Order: sequence, then structure tokens, then C-alpha cells
Amino acid sequence: MTRIETVRLRAVLDSRGNKTVEADVLTESGGFGRAAAPSGASTGEYEAIELPVNEAIAAAREHAVPRLEGRVYAGDQREVDDTLRAADGTEDFSEIGANSAVAISMAAAKAAADVLGAPLYQHLGGAFRGGNFPIPLGNVVGGGEHAQEATAIQEFLSAPVGAPSVKDAVFANAQVHGEIGSLLEERGTPAAKGDEGAWAPSISDAEAFELVEEAVETVSDDVGFEIKFGLDMAAAETFEDGEYVYGDEVRSTEEQIDYVAGLVDEYDLAYVEDPLDEDAYEAFAELTERVGSQTLICGDDLFVTNVERLEAGIDVDAANSILIKPNQIGTLSDAFDAIELATRNGYETVVSHRSGETEDATIAHLAVATDAPFIKTGTVGGERTAKLNELIRIADEAL
Ligand code: PGA
Ligand code: ZN
Repeated sequence: MTRIETVRLRAVLDSRGNKTVEADVLTESGGFGRAAAPSGASTGEYEAIELPVNEAIAAAREHAVPRLEGRVYAGDQREVDDTLRAADGTEDFSEIGANSAVAISMAAAKAAADVLGAPLYQHLGGAFRGGNFPIPLGNVVGGGEHAQEATAIQEFLSAPVGAPSVKDAVFANAQVHGEIGSLLEERGTPAAKGDEGAWAPSISDAEAFELVEEAVETVSDDVGFEIKFGLDMAAAETFEDGEYVYGDEVRSTEEQIDYVAGLVDEYDLAYVEDPLDEDAYEAFAELTERVGSQTLICGDDLFVTNVERLEAGIDVDAANSILIKPNQIGTLSDAFDAIELATRNGYETVVSHRSGETEDATIAHLAVATDAPFIKTGTVGGERTAKLNELIRIADEAL
């Protein structure tokens, strides 16, 4: 029923106005799936390779599409993804591009779900899911690689940990974003928005902490449930010659660990992503030992959704959670393997968007299908609300 008849690839626009790969998968029985690859700006060194879009499309048409059409079943996700790997022939998708691979992988899953008449999350494992929905972590203030002349820390994330439902959480994050906009206006601080829709004011990190703390407290009082906040420090981007350079602040590894541990205590942070360099397993482990019982220490550039890198982290207790970005590794099967390994070892999973996004909402289904406790997919902006609104719809349908 789900044998793939046609795979079409095209270039479309992402939210930054860059080209990205979109795939259509059609099955012989008339099933249809469409998906597009996202794209990072603060990419990890160990991610699968995103090729220039035209190159990725040409290479996938030459090597992967003929192996899929008429031969592989969209309903067999492992076979689809193994075929993509075999067609590519490298460890990091540098031949056909992880951008082509992930678009085809996700489009095949959607085509299979279409044939089965099931929502995507159901096809991806929804029958065995628990009753929980992921808590959205919402980027409300940020800078780093995502905005010029803004905070050195890449993301300040609203974390509505006490929200009674997914929609309450989504709306709370939007309210925190709005509250910060009002506070900035009151202070006369102009603020554009960064790539993910977060406010990108020209303020210090210290000022941003005060601002976000005030906003989450105000909104928390208003909505009547607990809202904490967290950070993506994207430390690999700031690590130069053995030191962490955040604006005017320069810290050694030990100083960075002390600084982050201090922030966790002072602001009761719910979440800290990439507080240290992408090769700093031991330093991660030291920080996790100190504050891992109070907060999530999450590896993004550290693990790049890669089971081997996650295994190395598990061996030394480097963290207690992992960011899951399908395009970092290239296929849905690989992302599932990382989620499974993480879950088996007590790591929390955070399914995530990229700074360059499209209207594609696959990650909302992935998060629900795998019982991920968190999803990181922004707060406002069409390419972000595409996922958030999909989560609300899934919760509405599934209950
Ligand atoms: P990126 O940023 O998509 O630009 O890599 C997101 C993140 O670091 O989590
Ligand atoms: Zn990150």
C-alpha cells in the first residue's frame, strides 16, 4: 500500500529568506507527504552536513530517488532511512546532504500516515505514548548567532513548567514574549527580533536576566501557574583558545562552570543548554554533578542527536538531557534511536526546531509520538506558531 511511486524535490524559502529543500513523497496508493528541511546558524561541528540547496537536490535526485521510487515502502521508515544512508554512502550525509535526507525521511513518514489515514504522531508511535504533552520552551530574548548587537547568551527561554495543558503553556510563552515587549517599550529600549522571533535588544546579559525574571513572574501571577526560565548558552560559538567569551566577559572553563552553577541557583533556572564547549564532556560532567539535580543540563552541539556522541556522554554523566534535531543527524530513524537511547538512560528529551525554519510541523508530531517532556520551538512568528498550533490541535484531537 505504501510503496513509493514518486519523490519530488524542490527549493523553497525558509524563515530567513534562504533556500531550503522541500520533498514530496507520493505512494502508489495515492498517499502524499510533504516536508522541508530546517537550517541552523549556530550549528555544531559534528552535525550531519547541509549541502548548498541546489547541490543537495541534484545529488539526492541522482543517488537516492532512483533507489526509493518503486522499490521502498514509505510505511517502513527504517527501510526508507537505510536506503537514504546507503545512497549517500558517508557517515555524515555529505554526498546527498542532510537537508535532502531529512526532507525525504519526514515526507515519507507523512505519506505513510496519509495512506493509513492516521495523524503523523499516531503513525510514529502514538499508540504506545503516555498521556503527557511536551512543555514548550519558548525563546523570548536572545542574541548570539541569531541577532546582531544583542545579548551574548543566545536564548532566554520561558519554561511554563506548571501549565495544566499544552495550550496554557503555549499561550503563557506568548504572554511572556508580549510582557517583555511592553517592559522594553516602557524603558525606551528599542528591540528588533532575532531569527527565532525572540526580542533582540542591545542590553547586557545581566539586564536580560532581570527583564526575563520580571516578565515570567508577572505572567505567572496572572495565569496562576509556575513559569520558570532557562537558557541556551550555545557555548561552542563563544569558545576561543580555551576561554568562554561572552561580550566583555572572558571565563576559563572552571569560571564558566561556577558562573553557570551560580545562575542556576540565583534564578532557579529550569534548563541550561550547551553551557560549555561541544568537546567539553568532562566539564559538562562537573557542572551536571553540581547542579544536575536542580535543573536540566542539555546537550545540543555536544550530542548533535548522534547516538555515539550521546553514548560517550552517558558514560561520563555529561548531562541529563539531550536536544533532538532530526536535521542534525539526517533521518527520523536516527532521531528515534537517539531518543530511545536517551530515555533508556534517564535523559530527558527536548525535540527542537532550528533558527531557520519553514511551516513544516513534523517536530510537533515527533515530540508527541515519543513522549518527549519538552519541545523547543519558539514563541511567535508563523514558522514557530506552525508547530505550536499543531501541538494544540494534536492535544485537542487526542483527548
Ligand atoms: P540553530 O540554533 O538552529 O541556529 O543551531 C538553535 C540552537 O542552538 O538550539
Ligand atoms: Zn542550542
